[in-house]
Amino acid sequence: MTDITKRLAKTSKELDGHIKSYIGDENPDNLIEAARQYPYAGGKRMRPAMVLAACGAVGGDRKKAFPLAVAIEYIHNFTLVHDDLMDGDEVRRGMVTSHVKYGMATAILAGDALFARAFEIMTDLDVPDKTLREILKVVTRAVWDLARGQQMDINNENGEEVTMEEYIETIRLKTSVLFASGAAGGAMVGGADGKTVDAIHSYAMKLGVAFQMFDDILGIVGDPEKTGKSSGNDIRKGKSTVMVCHALANLKGEDLREFRAVLGKNDASEAEIDRVRDILRKAGSIDYAISMAETFTKEAIACLHVLPEGPDKEFMVGLAEYAMAREV
Ligand code: IPE
Ligand code: IPE
Ligand code: MG
Ligand code: MG
Repeated sequence: MTDITKRLAKTSKELDGHIKSYIGDENPDNLIEAARQYPYAGGKRMRPAMVLAACGAVGGDRKKAFPLAVAIEYIHNFTLVHDDLMDGDEVRRGMVTSHVKYGMATAILAGDALFARAFEIMTDLDVPDKTLREILKVVTRAVWDLARGQQMDINNENGEEVTMEEYIETIRLKTSVLFASGAAGGAMVGGADGKTVDAIHSYAMKLGVAFQMFDDILGIVGDPEKTGKSSGNDIRKGKSTVMVCHALANLKGEDLREFRAVLGKNDASEAEIDRVRDILRKAGSIDYAISMAETFTKEAIACLHVLPEGPDKEFMVGLAEYAMAREV
């Protein structure tokens, strides 16, 4: 384990009891069980770790940011439950997804319940009312933007040709804004000034882009045993990603024809997906996505120059590097 994965694991453990404690035994059992499924399963818990680090990095008491960290993880889990339903995915965190296990109606409700509980948890934050209002504003705005991003992601399915700018805007909205609201909120809990909060927000926006680009790469060439998610479905759905944008712009002749034939083909076989992997590798589309993610990572890290040196800043730098150097 690298230092960063060790520290992530440690923070995850530290938060585990808190995350679990916010869902008590209530009726109906099937809804409560479904609401618990994703938060209990864990995942990497990068977002709550970032909340705590941002709070600590500005000189705050990271324990004060626990309710925000838990709330951001609940929102993340709510979006995953709905995302899996929308994407029709059957595996997440190595488990059968919510809508497959509990049915569509219960999955929708479990997501809604987690979403609501997240905001209830934020009322536990021990900060001045003005700060709480600012935190609520950035987090609610993030969820609104996330819905816009998710709709753009869906609109861009079926091999729809989108520009790189459109793709980046989509992932800024569907992925970065939640990271950024957590990081900015953590800094606010820590008592940071506006300039520092903005710099931390920008850091997480950039990190989120690199993270999602790398996630898209893992979604094509990652090992499902490690990611806990299926591989190749973005191709079957014809989702636009950096790799797809690059391939459509650079492929020619037979390769382009073959690529187009499989992109968006719902029932594409494993052999056809493998062929697409080869085409993407050969066209340099995967390397191109990696180099773009690297650029965003560097820009993210550069935003942190406003912070004093220390273990929390170091962790935030490490998290940005990890976002695009992970296997899960
Ligand atoms: C998955 O996020 C959703 C994306 C934005 C790509 P994570 O990769 O952080 O998922 P978990 O929480 O570790 O399972
Ligand atoms: C997930 O995006 C983004 C949100 C949940 C908002 P994806 O659909 O690309 O991510 P995975 O691969 O399902 O985790
Ligand atoms: Mg998905
Ligand atoms: Mg999705």
